[in-house]
Parts: sequence; structure tokens; C-alpha cells
Amino acid sequence: MNDGLKGGLLATRKALGQRIVPVRKRMKLKRFAIRLISLPRAFAIWTKYLRSPKYILPGGLELNVKLSLPELQLLLLDGWYHDFEIFGIKTGMLHPNQRCKQGALFALIDRAVSICREYGSLVRGVELFCADGYYANCAIRSGASEMYGIDIDNYYITKARIITKVLGNSVKVRFDCRDVFDLKDTFDFCICAGGLYHLSNPHELLRLLATKIRVALIIQTVYSLKNMSSSYFESPAPGWAHGCRFSLRYLVQMVKDTGWTILSESTNQLEGNMRLEDRGSVYLLCVPAR
Ligand SMILES: C[S@@+](CC[C@H](N)C(=O)[O-])C[C@H]1O[C@@H](n2cnc3c(N)ncnc32)[C@H](O)[C@@H]1O
Repeated sequence: MNDGLKGGLLATRKALGQRIVPVRKRMKLKRFAIRLISLPRAFAIWTKYLRSPKYILPGGLELNVKLSLPELQLLLLDGWYHDFEIFGIKTGMLHPNQRCKQGALFALIDRAVSICREYGSLVRGVELFCADGYYANCAIRSGASEMYGIDIDNYYITKARIITKVLGNSVKVRFDCRDVFDLKDTFDFCICAGGLYHLSNPHELLRLLATKIRVALIIQTVYSLKNMSSSYFESPAPGWAHGCRFSLRYLVQMVKDTGWTILSESTNQLEGNMRLEDRGSVYLLCVPAR
């Protein structure tokens, strides 16, 4: 079968599947099935862990907080967005996109925290689109005093709270399941990674952040390597029912137009994404335009 025909059939099957069981519902069913299947193994590990106070997690970290059976199950057996190996917990395979993104993000988080310190010793940050709270915990490691994580997916927020407890950061990091536009408080710095392209109106979020973030904004986002025009912005994103896609030049102008000065810019490619539309990845450190 030629590739075009195979692609067409796959797309039809996917479209039909999505109509019968919507994507979110299918994801929920899949997560439920994984939890059900993994329950006996989780129970066995949990009883062992109750008997022995020293339980060493895959990755080498000693588990020294009390967890309930569902918490232990979610920690050990279910899929994670990130691998927490740098903290001593091997939560899964290191995804190629995490490998491509995290070096640049660690450097920007370090820089943002140190710029914030010039304004005071207490550094409060927010991570938008936080999923399992990986970068919020990384910010604590980089010296942030407090972090607040937001994501609309309650499953990831639950996992974020569990791993944060295991890492001993629960007092410093809290999470809420809410939309990024529902940001109430103000913060010294913000990590906005893997998120702008999920919105149909990223301009509005950047404008909102200009009223909420006092010192530094870190942006990482996908951009299109297929359309490089400075006017390229499209919503929904190509092949998606939501989100948007833009060129690098469009993004840079949008960031400037919404009240930010860019201090540093770097790019690379997301090796886990095949399509040119999804492969560009940019890392910006911004401060409020004065
Ligand atoms: C690609 S993941 C990013 C994870 C992490 N920040 C990173 O860069 O590795 C995108 C996350 O954004 C969340 N998300 C999408 N739209 C959102 C919205 N409007 N408000 C809050 N979270 C949202 C999704 O649930 C998902 O967990």
C-alpha cells in the first residue's frame, strides 16, 4: 500500500474513532484501564513498603514520606509527562522532546531566579501548563522560594502533587487545576513552557502575564519550520481541532507587542515531533518593557 493511501486510511480511522469516543474520554478510559491493570502489582509493592520503612524508588531516591495506596500506584506505575531522573526518580523513559527542551529551560530558570534575587530574597514563581510539575520542582532546585503550578488536566495535577510530596517540596510548591487565563495572583517570574501553541489566543495570555509577572518571563513554545513568514499565524493548529501555530518571527513580534522585552533567544528542534509544523522550539527570557 502506498504511503498516501495508508496515511488516508489512518486519518479516516482516527477521525471515526474520535467521533465515536472523543479524545478526552478515550484518554480517561485508557488511564482508568492502566490503573485497574496495575492495581495488584501496586498493592504488592505497597504492602512491602508498609513493612519496610526504607523503600528505594527506581532511580535511587529513598521514599521517606507516607503515601496511600492510590498515591503509590500513581507514583510508580502510571505514565508521566516527564522523567524525574535528575531528582533520583526514574518515572519512565526520557522523551526526546524533554531531552531537547530541558537543558535550555534549566539555564533560563537559573537566570530568571538570579535576576529576581536582585529585587529581594523571596522569589515567587508560577509555572503555567505545568502538567506533572517538573519545571516547578526544577525552579525550587534552582533556588526559587515558592512555586505555583497550573494545568487544566486534573490527572497531571494529582501526579504533580504526589511527586512534589515525595521530593519534599510540598510546603514550597502548590498546584491548582485551572485554566491559565484564571491566574489571580502576581508573581516574580513565570515559566510558560509547552503552552502558547495550545491556545487560540496566545496574545491575550501574554498581555495578561504583562500585568501579573513582575520580573521575568520564560517562554518555550513550538513554532512552525514549514511557514517562516513573519505574518504566519493560524488557529486551530494544522491538523488539530484547537490551539494555534505561528512562525518564529510572528512569535517574537507578538511577545514585543504584548509588553515584553526579550533578553535572550535560542532555538532548536524537537526530535520527538515529525512534522515541520511541530518541530521548531524556541526559548525566550523576557522582562517587562519599561
Ligand atoms: C505540552 S504539555 C507541557 C508540559 C510542560 N510545561 C513542558 O513544557 O514540558 C501542555 C500542558 O498544557 C495543559 N493545558 C493546555 N491548555 C491549557 C489551559 N488553557 N490552561 C491550563 N493548562 C492547559 C495540558 O493539560 C498539558 O498538560
